[in-house]
Parts: sequence; C-alpha cells; structure tokens
Amino acid sequence: MLGRDVVDVLRASGHDVVALARAELDIRDLAACMDAFAESDAVINTAAWTDVDAAERNEADAYAVNAVGAANVARACAAHSAALVQVSTDYVFDGRASTPYPVGAPLAPLNAYGRTKAAGEWAVRSEHPGAHVVRTAWLYGAHGGSFVRTMLRLAQERDSVEVVDDQHGQPTWTHDLAVLLRDLVVEGAPAGVHHGTSSGEATWYDLARETYRLAGLDPERVRPTTSDRYPRPAPRPQYSVLANDGRLPDWRDGLRRALPSVAEGP
Ligand SMILES: NC(=O)c1ccc[n+]([C@@H]2O[C@H](COP(=O)([O-])OP(=O)(O)OC[C@H]3O[C@@H](n4cnc5c(N)ncnc54)[C@H](OP(=O)(O)O)[C@@H]3O)[C@@H](O)[C@H]2O)c1
Repeated sequence: MLGRDVVDVLRASGHDVVALARAELDIRDLAACMDAFAESDAVINTAAWTDVDAAERNEADAYAVNAVGAANVARACAAHSAALVQVSTDYVFDGRASTPYPVGAPLAPLNAYGRTKAAGEWAVRSEHPGAHVVRTAWLYGAHGGSFVRTMLRLAQERDSVEVVDDQHGQPTWTHDLAVLLRDLVVEGAPAGVHHGTSSGEATWYDLARETYRLAGLDPERVRPTTSDRYPRPAPRPQYSVLANDGRLPDWRDGLRRALPSVAEGP
C-alpha cells in the first residue's frame, strides 16, 4: 500500500525509480539485497510483515522480515553507500502514555509485530548509522485494504456500525507519508528517527464518522463502543499518538484529499 504511493510520488517528481515487489527481491536474502542495491543512490524500504494478528502466532516469520530483512537492506545500503529510509510503526510503544510519544521515548511494544519492528529499528541503525527510521501509524491509501476502505464498504452493507472509541492515534494518508519520505532523502535530512504521522489525533470512531461525513453519509450511523468488546489476538496500544514536527497536515485534511482515490481503489 505505501510502496505504490512512494513509487508514484518519486516518479512524478522525476526520479528514476526501481520498484521491487517481493517476487523480485525477498529482503530475507542478504545476497539478493547486495545485488539489488549495488547501483542505488537511495532505498526506501516499505517491505514488511504487516499482519499484526498473524504475527502473534508466527513471530519468528515476522522477525525474519521485519528485523532480519530490514537489517539485510541496511547492510546492503551501507556497503554501497546508498541512503536508506526504513519505515517503522507506532506499535513500538506501549500506548500507556497520555501525551504524544517523543522520538526518544523508550520502546516497549505490546505485541509480536511491535517487537519485530522495534528489533528492525535497532538493526537498521546499527548496520547503517546514516539511515532514517520513520515511524508511521494508522495508514490508509488507494492501493491496499484499510480501516477507511472497510468503513466505506460497511456503509453499503449495514444501517449502522459500531466502532471503538477508546484507542487514540493519527490516521495518515500513504500519499502524504510518501512525500515526507521523498523529502527526507532529497533534503539530506539528519539521520535518526522521525515521526511521520498526520497532525492532530483521533479515535477509530472519530475516523469512521469523518469518513462517513466526507462520503456524504450520516455520521450518526456510526456508534461508539469499547475495544474490550472486540478482543483481537494482538493487543493494541490505547494511546498511540506520536510527537511530530507538524510537517504532515491534520488527519481530517489528509482524509478529505484522499477519500476519492481510497473509495475508487486501485
Ligand atoms: N498499514 C499501517 O497502518 C501501518 C502502520 C504503521 C507502520 N506501517 C509500516 O509501513 C510499511 C508499509 O506498510 P503497508 O501498509 O504498505 O504494508 P503492505 O501493504 O502489507 O505492504 C508490505 C509489502 O511488503 C512485502 N513483503 C512482505 N515480506 C517481504 C519480503 N520478505 N521481501 C520483500 N517484500 C516483502 C509484501 O508483499 P506481499 O504482498 O507479497 O506479501 C507487501 O507488498 C511497513 O513497514 C509497515 O510496518 C504500516
């Protein structure tokens, strides 16, 4: 989902992009990474094991991609002096805070996916000290399944929908994030960890209501509920708001601009 928008944004601004799907490069293969990036000026790694619930019972498989794979990409980039952006997640934090997490807050993931992504961050920074690690959250976009697209589908299927109102985060459009990732590389921003999320914060209930409103549907069809009524295999952080530098617009603005392409799909 994110990778497709990164490719589109880079090509639209005139960059020469090689887009590699898993069939062309499995990042678990170090030798293949070494070959793939031999001529690269910069690499943006959007590949990951992203099935959060499945990672609970397949942590070793998720680790192989999110930690070892990320390390392989970083080692290959360092060997070829290529810039690197590694995409990470809000799930490296435990969500027990009540104010936004600064980039230097201690990592304390609640679930297996978060542990593997945190390991990836450490591995990337150790293998490639010049790398950018960009934590993002609550992504939606034109090229993949997402909460926003699910809400649009459910609106066609049901009169009302219950949505949890006790998890806080920053809904972020993949296109807006892609622009930030491009700019970090092009500007030669300082190495280290960045937070790449929308400004403002919302609950899933807020996001569902705003999606309905923008789609011309009655937001009162969205009802609030609590996450204990919808247990999932992987625990979710309750307060997942990242302190950022405000470079990305407010989440409502991103959603407004994104909705036509998200509704239309790939
Ligand atoms: N979605 C979110 O809300 C969210 C939130 C926070 C952070 N992130 C992070 O943002 C990044 C992009 O996420 P996304 O939502 O765009 O995920 P996505 O749509 O699931 O894309 C991940 C891609 O990685 C590929 N992949 C998996 N294993 C691979 C391997 N061993 N080698 C090469 N490619 C492999 C997948 O290929 P297949 O489709 O063939 O499996 C898929 O194309 C990830 O780092 C993710 O952890 C996402």
